[in-house]
Order: sequence, then structure tokens, then C-alpha cells
Amino acid sequence: MKRSEQLKKLSWEHHDALKFARRIKKGMNNGTTPERIARYVIFIVEALLQPHFKLEEESLIKRLSSAQAQDIVVTQVIADHREFNRLVAAIKDGEGDLGRLLESFIDLLKSHVKWEEQRFFPYCERVLSDTDLDQIRVELDQGHLPDEVTWDEPFWA
Ligand SMILES: [Fe+2]
Ligand SMILES: [Fe+2]
Repeated sequence: MKRSEQLKKLSWEHHDALKFARRIKKGMNNGTTPERIARYVIFIVEALLQPHFKLEEESLIKRLSSAQAQDIVVTQVIADHREFNRLVAAIKDGEGDLGRLLESFIDLLKSHVKWEEQRFFPYCERVLSDTDLDQIRVELDQGHLPDEVTWDEPFWA
């Protein structure tokens, strides 16, 4: 999908998010304990995903009019971000079946990235002005996080 220059860095982070999902899946298939995978998931969410959600909410969504922000394209994004936080809290608390929670996490990550790439970003590109998009680009440049973080237990390798 063609992405505007202004939103490109968020798409790069989506690319990384799908890589994390593949690593988690790999760990689940190679016999890594769910507890070990869970530590990675918590780290990824707190270090990379939550700052990414914050950029989307504060740089993009806050610039929409209240009517635009009520579109399902946008409300679904917010609902997904809340669901991520709920899931990671459950993973942290060890409540319920950890393997199931990890599966739900992977599914949500994939469907959320797809929704934003196919629906949410095109919507923002359409309704926001060029001036807004250029300012967003500056904010994304400042808030963008490096794609690779060191993790001393690469269970996916
Ligand atoms: Fe998001
Ligand atoms: Fe995103």
C-alpha cells in the first residue's frame, strides 16, 4: 500500500510490529515457555508499542475534528489500543491461560496493523490538511523509535 511520506515512519514501526508477532509465534512453536515469551511481549508493549500508540493518538487523532474522530475507522483504533493494554495487564498478572493470551496478542497485533494501514492511515491522509500532515511528520521524526532493541534471550533464533 502506498503510504504518504509524512506517515512513513509509523508504517516502518508496523513492519517491526509484524516481525515481533512472527517471533512470538516462532517461540510458541519451538517449545519456548509461555512465561519467557510473556516477558518479551511485556517489554515490546511498554518500550515500543505504547509510544507508537501515543504518537497515533496525539499526533494524528487529536488533529481530527470531533465528527471525524467519531468515525468507526478511528474509534476502532482507540478500542484496539485499549485492548492491547488490557491484554498486557492480563499477561502481567498471569490471569487465565497464558498461551491463549499470547495468541490473542498476536491476532490483535496483526489485525490492528492491517486496519491502520488499510483504513486509518488512508483516512488521515484524506481528511487532514497538508500543513497538518507536514507537522505530523516533524512529530513522528522526533518520536520514532529504532527498529532494533537488544533482547538477551532471542528465543526465536
Ligand atoms: Fe495503533
Ligand atoms: Fe499503529
